[in-house]
Amino acid sequence: MRIAMIGTGYVGLVSGVCFSDFGHEVVCVDKNPEKIERLQAGEVPIYEPGLEALMAKNVAAGRLSFTTDIAQAVAGAEAVFIAVGTPTRRGDGHADLSYVMAAAEEIGRALTNYAVVVTKSTVPVGTNRKVAEAVRAANPGAVFDVASNPEFLREGAAIDDFMRPDRVVIGVEGDRARKVMAELYRPLSLREFPVVYTGLESAEMIKYAANAFLATKITFINEIAALCERVGADVKAVAKGMGMDGRIGSKFLHAGPGYGGSCFPKDTKALARIGQDHAVPMQIVETVIKVNEEVKRRMVAKIEDLCDGVLRDKTIAILGVTFKPNTDDMREAPSLTLVPALVGAGAKVRVCDPQGKHEGEALLPGVKWADNAYQAAQGADLVVILTEWNEFRALDLGRLARKMAVPRLADLRNIYDPAEVEAAGFERYAGVGR
Ligand SMILES: NC(=O)c1ccc[n+]([C@@H]2O[C@H](COP(=O)([O-])OP(=O)(O)OC[C@H]3O[C@@H](n4cnc5c(N)ncnc54)[C@H](O)[C@@H]3O)[C@@H](O)[C@H]2O)c1
Repeated sequence: MRIAMIGTGYVGLVSGVCFSDFGHEVVCVDKNPEKIERLQAGEVPIYEPGLEALMAKNVAAGRLSFTTDIAQAVAGAEAVFIAVGTPTRRGDGHADLSYVMAAAEEIGRALTNYAVVVTKSTVPVGTNRKVAEAVRAANPGAVFDVASNPEFLREGAAIDDFMRPDRVVIGVEGDRARKVMAELYRPLSLREFPVVYTGLESAEMIKYAANAFLATKITFINEIAALCERVGADVKAVAKGMGMDGRIGSKFLHAGPGYGGSCFPKDTKALARIGQDHAVPMQIVETVIKVNEEVKRRMVAKIEDLCDGVLRDKTIAILGVTFKPNTDDMREAPSLTLVPALVGAGAKVRVCDPQGKHEGEALLPGVKWADNAYQAAQGADLVVILTEWNEFRALDLGRLARKMAVPRLADLRNIYDPAEVEAAGFERYAGVGR
């Protein structure tokens, strides 16, 4: 099958590469010429484990190519995916649909034959119908259908998530489009991964409801963590005991510095706006957004407390700045709130991250970058573990403590056992909710 993938970011590139690995012929399009040049040279512009090798394999097999020319990619394609960004619109919290609608128009102008225009971007309810209108307006004679196919992959585990999904959701009307979608995902349905067919609106809602629920679960345990700190409970034990209940489950019950990333913040805000627009306020989600901001502020207070209430002139080493491990994505990372707060209060901040420097340098002014945790900790008054990269999970704590002027640790991911940290020579340890 011939596929055009419009937008070659975290979702579009991974989806395009994986569809080509299924045996489809995929042309990935991006309007950013520098990105396309790098891809044509075999270079992956993002950090995603396993992606470069899988991309090279499918390019070599002649099934995968890259272009800035949307017309060339769309001509002859049977499925045209929209995988462009839907960031928060400045000012009002709505999803910014300008990229999606611009792509729809361009696709409309380029269609030469029957195709299904599939929206993979996360979009508010009703958007797929607007996409259909935009395609039709750009090309009144076009023969096409639309489908909603929200993506659930997680950065850092994106290939596995695409290849072995919990489910594929397809919102579609009519047999012709459904057949195309079934054909696209046949390699997964053959291996009995569930494919859920719904209407367009339900598919659009599933994505927002799922992300809002996960953000709620994280925020719930973060709020419980705050109470645990006051009453002498350990949130790790609490989460373990809760998570063993099959109705609750242990995932997304890890207390930490608040959720961030390219999806949860913008999708919770967008869902809240959708609710307000329909006079059905999403009160739980609105509270989650508010509590998450408080969680981030609490982390600054925690660090200040570990510095005896004075941040000015303290040297603080931050380990990890990306919003989670195994990605270079800095969008809405907790570091973007925490680090400026520390710098603003007069602390001398050093940061290190296995993949975050390229994106992070421009976003975190006033900090010094170190190559590794030990270099960052040299002479420091506090080390803060902010992102749980593997290399920060197996630190030589004794060596780290010996490098520091004042050996204190803020473990905002609850990686280490407080007793182990103390035994390694740290004079103070603070986790989250313990
Ligand atoms: N990143 C994730 O983990 C994730 C997971 C699930 C769903 N999503 C959703 O998928 C969508 C894409 O997210 P992303 O993280 O891949 O975004 P991204 O910003 O990494 O990539 C978007 C790409 O689209 C390109 N683009 C924009 N308009 C274009 C046009 N008209 N023609 C060609 N290219 C165009 C941009 O240059 C950019 O490279 C969003 O709606 C997001 O919510 C993201």
